[in-house]
Amino acid sequence: MTTVKAGGMTVEAKMEALREELRHHEYLYYVLDQPEWTDAQYDARMNELKALEAEHPELVAADSPTQRVGGKPKEGFVKVAHSKPMLSLDNAYNEEELRAWAERVQGGLAASEKPGFVCELKLDGLSLALTYEAGVKGTAVLKSGVTRGDGTVGEDVTSNVRTIRSVPLHVSAKRLKDAGLPQQFEVRGEVVLPQAAFRKMNEEREAQGLAPAVNPRNAAAGTLRTLEPNIVAQRRLELFAYFLLSAGGEGEPATGEFLLETQSAGLEALRRAGFLVNPNSRVVSSIDEVLSFIAEAEAKRDGLPYEIDGVVIKVDSTAQQRRLGFTGKAPRWAIAYKFPARAAVTMLEEVLFQVGRTGKVTPVAALAPVFVGGTTVTRATLHNADEIERLGLKIGDFVSVERGGDVIPKITEVVEDAAHPRGEREIVFPEVCPRCGEALVREPGEVDLRCVNVSCPARLEEELRHFASRGVMNIEGMGESMVAQLLGHTLAEVGTASLEASTDESEIEAEAPTKTALVHSIADVYDSTKVNRDTLLTLERIGEKTADALLAQIEASKKQPLNRVLLGLGIRHVGERTAQALADEFGSIDALIGATEEELTKVNDIGPKVAATVREFFTNERNLALVERLRGYGLTFTSKKRERGTKLEGMTFVLTGTLPTLTRDEAKEKIEAAGGKVSGSVSKKTSYVVAGEEAGSKLEKAQQLGVAVLDEAGLLAML
Ligand code: IVH
Repeated sequence: MTTVKAGGMTVEAKMEALREELRHHEYLYYVLDQPEWTDAQYDARMNELKALEAEHPELVAADSPTQRVGGKPKEGFVKVAHSKPMLSLDNAYNEEELRAWAERVQGGLAASEKPGFVCELKLDGLSLALTYEAGVKGTAVLKSGVTRGDGTVGEDVTSNVRTIRSVPLHVSAKRLKDAGLPQQFEVRGEVVLPQAAFRKMNEEREAQGLAPAVNPRNAAAGTLRTLEPNIVAQRRLELFAYFLLSAGGEGEPATGEFLLETQSAGLEALRRAGFLVNPNSRVVSSIDEVLSFIAEAEAKRDGLPYEIDGVVIKVDSTAQQRRLGFTGKAPRWAIAYKFPARAAVTMLEEVLFQVGRTGKVTPVAALAPVFVGGTTVTRATLHNADEIERLGLKIGDFVSVERGGDVIPKITEVVEDAAHPRGEREIVFPEVCPRCGEALVREPGEVDLRCVNVSCPARLEEELRHFASRGVMNIEGMGESMVAQLLGHTLAEVGTASLEASTDESEIEAEAPTKTALVHSIADVYDSTKVNRDTLLTLERIGEKTADALLAQIEASKKQPLNRVLLGLGIRHVGERTAQALADEFGSIDALIGATEEELTKVNDIGPKVAATVREFFTNERNLALVERLRGYGLTFTSKKRERGTKLEGMTFVLTGTLPTLTRDEAKEKIEAAGGKVSGSVSKKTSYVVAGEEAGSKLEKAQQLGVAVLDEAGLLAML
């Protein structure tokens, strides 16, 4: 027993209470997706626990929420045998095959026995087996996470699985009881990398000059086998649980058998035990209903935050499952209905070279139009020379084109058979910039070719598109075609249109005879002698209304905070996060211009490479002149965050109902700007509830707890 006391509680009890609280809020955030705490609140509690654990290392257990990211596995990943083989599934590709399977199922059961089915989404990731063992005081703790491997033997990737926030490190005695689970059991499920995390990972890889991962499944598999738990933790993998198996305790089914009587009860028990179970599953009693589920799933497919490639149909009763048994490598009681592939074969007609904002030259495949995943595709990115070499591509080849959740289509392989002979023409990289004719350079250690002419029109075009885009300077009305017009042509010429826009061929037109450009740099956008009502009216299809609206947007963009402007300047390696970090740290453009490389590296998330490019950017005369011109036109160049007030410091607010003038986000921003916090739920610790029209249960709760209630005017008065 520990005798150390802290505020009336033993330290041990205090730590346990913090852990319980953190676990509960992790569950709300990562499993239910209904957070009640802000990140800052979570971090504060986590830091409190970490501090206590640092003082009392003897009281730290492996299932503490602080223990998700541990050391690297010293010997690499160890091979482990599965309790029962992890099998795969037979596939059905159409209704006929599905009905044939249902008949085989019926044939394996008594005629009077009508099987029920569970329909689940077929998540496109990789399967994993988690084992839980008895912990102290009736709890269960995560023991291991093992990949499928060859089905019989997998790899122990526990250190990485622990970093997945939707995987509980600990299941409380109460949850076990509620779920009807013993203290030891096995869970099987699918690890996926959500679309957003996949895109972020590829952006980072590209910024580092690495080839992007082809699809989320490969990215998830690669991540799970990374020997650096720190990196895995940042990738935001998710695990959806779909099987509950026995670990063979007393009076329980043998190891690896189903623990409960139905698959649907297994899913429900997993849910109650705190696992993330995909909400899209349904118990049905006929194949017609299975078909409706499939149709609904297909319709939902594009809107889901992760990839699915079909529907898995399982016989619900585990007794029936046992009677049906297995064929060689797959259960007879389940089948995967695969969606039609979003891939098609077409010919590579040409390779074009597109010059990006930073001068990077990207090869783009010009394809014979082909219908894939709902759109006609005529372009696909080829990334760089390495990718072309990896594919072994020649012009005239037939290639397989895939559209994942990403809008940008990808070439996955060269197809070669009797109907698809190989192409013969080599792909030759240009030696000079296809837009301005300047010699291209390849910097040492980089795969990409670059146009280093800072006034290359192709670079300027990309720069302007980026500068004006949403999330950067947000100049509405300055999209691709307006940018093209400002640069003196009607629509982007073939090969320079962005990939997203060029999936539909009708959007690509040849360049019209070049007129004189209105702008020659970003700053010119703000120069009223160049961009004004009269000059805009000379452009095609631009009326007075459009011209005025654009000018108003340009004017409004001058107020964008420093982080947006930094992002807009297009400094290499400076993405959204880095721009924000720089703005937060330095607060003004002058402080940033004056910062040394050493000061830059001290900023969170900024390494020597980024620090060097930032420094380099702000020592370049041309860039400094650009900054001065923009300043002259009245751009803000200061950070909002720096001006964070202290009026509401230490206070927590909860917003409910509709406020008369402020949106929720605006109210939140104002409170936070004044140093206050906004939380999602009312507790005794809430300082004020700000209630608007149709305020609901939160207002009631405030009244019950005696928390002060404000209206919008009251809030504004405090500010
Ligand atoms: S059941 C015999 N349920 O699909 C057990 N698998 O093609 C088969 N998968 O290896 C697993 N979502 O990686 C099952 N809801 C789901 C699934 C699912 C995705 C994957 C799993 C399996 C593969 C079989």
